[in-house]
Amino acid sequence: MAEASNTTVTLQVHRFTARRRPRGKQWVQEYTIPARPSDTVLDCLLTIKRTVDPTLAFRYSCGHGMCGSDAVAINGTPTLLCTATIRDWAKQPGAMPEVDDEGFRHTGTEAEESDDSAENVANAAAAQNSAANGSLGVIELASLPGFPPQRDLIADIDPMLNQIRKLTPYLQADGVLATTAEGKVDVFEYLQNPEQLAKYEPLSNCIACGVCEGACPVYAGGDAFIGPAALIWASRFVNDSRDTKAMERMDAIDTADGVAACQSVRACSRHCPRGIDVGEEMWQIVAKVRER
Ligand code: SF4
Ligand code: FES
Repeated sequence: MAEASNTTVTLQVHRFTARRRPRGKQWVQEYTIPARPSDTVLDCLLTIKRTVDPTLAFRYSCGHGMCGSDAVAINGTPTLLCTATIRDWAKQPGAMPEVDDEGFRHTGTEAEESDDSAENVANAAAAQNSAANGSLGVIELASLPGFPPQRDLIADIDPMLNQIRKLTPYLQADGVLATTAEGKVDVFEYLQNPEQLAKYEPLSNCIACGVCEGACPVYAGGDAFIGPAALIWASRFVNDSRDTKAMERMDAIDTADGVAACQSVRACSRHCPRGIDVGEEMWQIVAKVRER
């Protein structure tokens, strides 16, 4: 059993329940629990669920960044519960938000700037005060932006999954099988060289977590824009040398709510847990659709 921690973290959870209320009841609930800097936010939620409040709802499955089921907003930034650590995300009460050159507000303590700006001086003082009373800081949690909340930290991600499904996210190869002289199926494989594989392999790592969609200011529910995740899946097959439907796939996204809706904000790239440069991929697929 893990050693008891003498430090604490406070989670401010935006809770939501639609039970008995058509438009839902919303409130913020605060939990202060023992935690270590290396704990993940998911670890903390599991502690709360098991020892403090069994009514708190959140979703997870693999627990190590592979299934994409636990995307939420941490301090306003879409990311995964299971890979976010207290060390990276707890902010000290009184700390000032940091704004980077692109105008993005850093709400966690992950920023690596080391200058002596007013923000950093104020934040260092807040950290000292907090460390003195054993608090690692405060983390704010809400369900994934851009999707309807279902309960507490669980958002309905069906709109994203439906957009991905609409774009036939599976290989459509020529289906010609190699046969023996007797007409029997001999091999069933589609050969590909390493260069051809490299064109789409990073995109095949997408776990449909919705983090890029939650960060995209245009997506917001998928009515006006099918969203970066759906375009990543389309691009994955457009770039696959074995697929025979590249033209049809590009036609399907050459629409007002497809590539035309992308405003190249590139917020989608910032926290993809699979390391996909989503904004760059958007740029590439938009260019490919326009040039065809
Ligand atoms: Fe998640 Fe990245 Fe796929 Fe977007 S591209 S759904 S952030 S894994
Ligand atoms: Fe599977 Fe976080 S629980 S990615």
